[in-house]
Amino acid sequence: MEQTVKIVVDGKTFRLPMITGSEGERVIDISGLRKETGLVTLDPGFANTASCQSRITFVDGERGILRYRGIPVEQLAKHSTFVETAYLLINGELPTQKQLNRFSVLLNDHSLVHEDMQAFFQNFPRSAHPMGILSSMVNALRAFYPEIPERSEEEEIDITVTRLLSKVRTMAAMSYKIFRGHKVVYPRHDLTYAANFLNMMFDSPVRPYDIDEDLVKALNVFWILHADHEQNCSTAAVRVVGSAKVNLYAAISAGICALWGPLHGGANQAVVEMVSQIHKNGGDMAPLIARAKDKNDPFRLMGFGHRVYKTYDPRARVMKKVCDSVLCKLTGHDPLLDIAKGLEEVALKDPYFIDHHLYPNVDFYSGILLRAIGIPLNMFTVLFAIGRLPGWISQWRESIDDPGWKIDRPRQVYIGPGERDYVPIKKRGRQTRRKDEKN
Ligand code: ACO
Repeated sequence: MEQTVKIVVDGKTFRLPMITGSEGERVIDISGLRKETGLVTLDPGFANTASCQSRITFVDGERGILRYRGIPVEQLAKHSTFVETAYLLINGELPTQKQLNRFSVLLNDHSLVHEDMQAFFQNFPRSAHPMGILSSMVNALRAFYPEIPERSEEEEIDITVTRLLSKVRTMAAMSYKIFRGHKVVYPRHDLTYAANFLNMMFDSPVRPYDIDEDLVKALNVFWILHADHEQNCSTAAVRVVGSAKVNLYAAISAGICALWGPLHGGANQAVVEMVSQIHKNGGDMAPLIARAKDKNDPFRLMGFGHRVYKTYDPRARVMKKVCDSVLCKLTGHDPLLDIAKGLEEVALKDPYFIDHHLYPNVDFYSGILLRAIGIPLNMFTVLFAIGRLPGWISQWRESIDDPGWKIDRPRQVYIGPGERDYVPIKKRGRQTRRKDEKN
């Protein structure tokens, strides 16, 4: 029997249908609400609103579960590679060996970036943030790789998807080299996706880069853990912008802009800055913990808290382990990791953090890992963006393939002034002055 919820408006009863997600999540379908009742809903931050039905990623914030296409992220982090996980997210199934080989060949074929694009990179001010550069460059890809009318829509999408996955990685490394004033290192056909990235970032004519397979594995895990997270801020941005049927490059560029924010992808950089500050001040964490708890102080403990997870973020647990093993191998120990673990211990015992259900999120340890790999601080969020690409792409594809597709256009509750007359400019000052004089 179809389940419904009953709402009573001005004494009149309406019934709204309910649907149930494949993991038992019960949802009220309000899509007919305005038509039937004339009412809209208000939900700041969309905390109670499902904007779509999706088959891609399942998150259970109460139980700390994250699965891509049904597969637990812990299993993917252990056994998969970023390229294989990207294939899974975008195509819905793990690839066969043949499919994976073909996908890798395509990624290799599309890894070069148009030489003319280097001029753009060269002309950004040296102080420009790499996320600003990346979002502009991804948008510019459409101009360098325009649509070819003879190709079918499906072929066009496939090629755009492969280009993005492959070229964004090349462009990220390229922007770093140009920022340093060094010669650009080109992708190599004999290296895997992650090894290629590290080589493009760190190889130099005077110091050839030794590829360390443990770092390659760590980077794969980092990217797998970031590959999708259902309807987060940047993915929602990709879907909203994509809903206007703009090209995929522009939609992804919007996602990169959203991810740049310190409350989203920028948090991993903020965590390292915060932990370094504690280190500089002799390791005393108490003042920052006190500030985080102070209602009158906007400061937040970075890398803590999450809109969905009200328990330990499963990605943070894997990240912490990888951090431990990489740092143990590279340096024996890292004072910043010690401080982060100390902060976690103090916060998890503190009634404020317990009562607010604040636990470490994925960003809490990821910055420390990236720093150990040698990634500069201002590139941290770029690394997150490369990781999130398969998620953005698969979510965009799902939305444009949805037979019930609609342009995203929320309603609002207007709380501004009622109708009033236009005041000519000469009268405005006098009116204000007279009012001020009275006061
Ligand atoms: N430190 C201290 N207090 C916090 C923190 C924090 N990190 N996070 C939330 N709170 C408190 C808020 O002050 C608020 O307290 P109150 O109810 O007493 O006023 C309560 O917890 C709820 O906070 P909201 O901002 O309403 O929670 P929301 O779900 O909107 O925000 C967010 C989630 C943005 C992640 C938040 O926890 C935060 O700012 N964390 C720090 C930044 C961060 O680590 N971002 C990365 C997120 S993961 C990702 O994007 C990959």
